[in-house]
Amino acid sequence: MTAGRAGASRPHGIEIAASILDADLGRLADEIARADAAGADRIHLDVMDAHFVPNLTFGPRTIRAVRSATALPFDAHLMTSEPGRFLDEYLDAGCESITLHVEIGEEIRPTLERIRAAGRLAGLALKPGTPLAALDPYRGHLDMVMVMTVEPGFGGQVFLADAARKIADAPAWLGPDGLVHVDGGVNGGSADTVARLGVDILVVGSALWRATDMAAEIARIRTIAQASRAAGAAWPA
Ligand code: DX5
Ligand code: ZN
Repeated sequence: MTAGRAGASRPHGIEIAASILDADLGRLADEIARADAAGADRIHLDVMDAHFVPNLTFGPRTIRAVRSATALPFDAHLMTSEPGRFLDEYLDAGCESITLHVEIGEEIRPTLERIRAAGRLAGLALKPGTPLAALDPYRGHLDMVMVMTVEPGFGGQVFLADAARKIADAPAWLGPDGLVHVDGGVNGGSADTVARLGVDILVVGSALWRATDMAAEIARIRTIAQASRAAGAAWPA
């Protein structure tokens, strides 16, 4: 699939968000500081409630506890069925952005409005099987779109290339002021595909924590993505 030069005209630079799901959660503050020192641009915090996804991680109290570990932006990725219930706590914990899943059952628009009213970035995430069109009711109410390229719930999964195809339409859908994130199985290999399709922020988890040199891995993935974005979109053969 050739999606034109989707990525080449993006106003935002490529950023790497370190997902801490596979970090040593017993030393979370130190791990966040390590990702910061290694050159990560943002910290991606995977909140899971064992209901929306079959895993349980941490909540706003943990995020507040590690807030002082870095000045980097905190992106909360809420894989929870009732994100509105604890929204104030995530805002108070110091999250610069909060992303809900469009597949949840509760009303979404009021929560997006509360996030923006607090001066933070509001995002919606799409599971691999959810089309971009599912976001249409929220057009104009979003600062971020997060395309999941794994089924949410666990780090270390294989990148689902088919799920990445919707990235190509996300920048135009969101507009030039929005940020397109890709999340799940992103590494030195898949970075090429997602950057060609126009992504702005690459969420990278296990590839960083498994790396012998995290700084070198962040730099490598960023360099690949920047070069691929410049090359423009061309679906890999
Ligand atoms: C999965 C999470 C992702 C994941 C990324 O549900 O939302 O952020 O932790 O980790 P990797 O890069 O290992 O897929
Ligand atoms: Zn995530």
